[in-house]
Amino acid sequence: MPLVTSTEMFKKAYEGHYAIGAFNVNNMEIIQGIVGAAKQEQSPVILQVSAGARKYANHIYLVKLVEAALLDTDLPICLHLDHGEDFEICKQCVDGGFTSVMIDGSKYPFEQNIEMTRRVVEYAHEHGVVVEAELGKLAGVEDAVKVAAKDATYTDPDQAVEFVERTGCDSLAIAIGTSHGAYKFKGEPSLDFARLEKITNMLPGFPLVLHGASTVIPSFVQKCNQYGGALDGAQGVPEDMLLKAGTFGVCKINVDTDLRLAMTACIREHFATHPADFDPRQYLKPARQAIQDMVAHKIRNVMNSSNRL
Ligand code: G3H
Ligand code: 13P
Ligand code: ZN
Repeated sequence: MPLVTSTEMFKKAYEGHYAIGAFNVNNMEIIQGIVGAAKQEQSPVILQVSAGARKYANHIYLVKLVEAALLDTDLPICLHLDHGEDFEICKQCVDGGFTSVMIDGSKYPFEQNIEMTRRVVEYAHEHGVVVEAELGKLAGVEDAVKVAAKDATYTDPDQAVEFVERTGCDSLAIAIGTSHGAYKFKGEPSLDFARLEKITNMLPGFPLVLHGASTVIPSFVQKCNQYGGALDGAQGVPEDMLLKAGTFGVCKINVDTDLRLAMTACIREHFATHPADFDPRQYLKPARQAIQDMVAHKIRNVMNSSNRL
């Protein structure tokens, strides 16, 4: 099966009150681990590529690895640009075989975000590619503790309706309390479900996206700390909150940090326990398996998208 857009995936996810996992990919082992899990769970999946991933691995290598995954699995896979920062990178990905792009104009004023997004939507739709946009600002890693500014950066429901109408985007990333990275909450985790419910009700049938949605799995954090340290105070979004988000309009849940932690924990442990190893296959094989196990767990227990082909 060729690459698909997220349109059909999101329609079924919306109606079935579950979400599709969108996992960041940077190399072959990460792609194989994620796709192995999706196959095992018989789940659709989104593989997303950041600007940093394109710089690291080279666009064409990532596209060809994903094409290999399609041949190997025959799964519905959507290839998505994560956090495209301008028209040019979105155009390159549309022209370069992606089936979905994100234009992230969230740091710009409302009208400028609309303008940028509209331009990308027009180009992408002409080429059969769907567009995710973002309204509202997620906290960055350093900003995770800035609770006072909360309402100023969370997505405004009225603006969300106007934004979707005026841009024609196909899905919208919203800010309701998640943040990127391993340090999401200082105290008790909490998401603004009242806001999510309001946005869902005001945009019936429209797919919403949750970024910064890693759960920051404690066993990986513990292992990273045991074999090297430096992750004290890491905390993610609890699984039950993500499951609940999937019962509202959230159709896409983004995960990157958990992949990094799974891989790093495994490799750190490997070298601590096998100091003489120097063949990359010896540590990348268990790391790939750790990713597969973790993603399969998420597909079952966080996305609720197993057996949804
Ligand atoms: O939200 C961003 C993703 O975690 C991608 O991170 O830009 O370092 O590849 P990256
Ligand atoms: P995490 O940092 O929570 O994994 O979020 C990833 C993300 O939103 C990618 O766009
Ligand atoms: Zn993100």
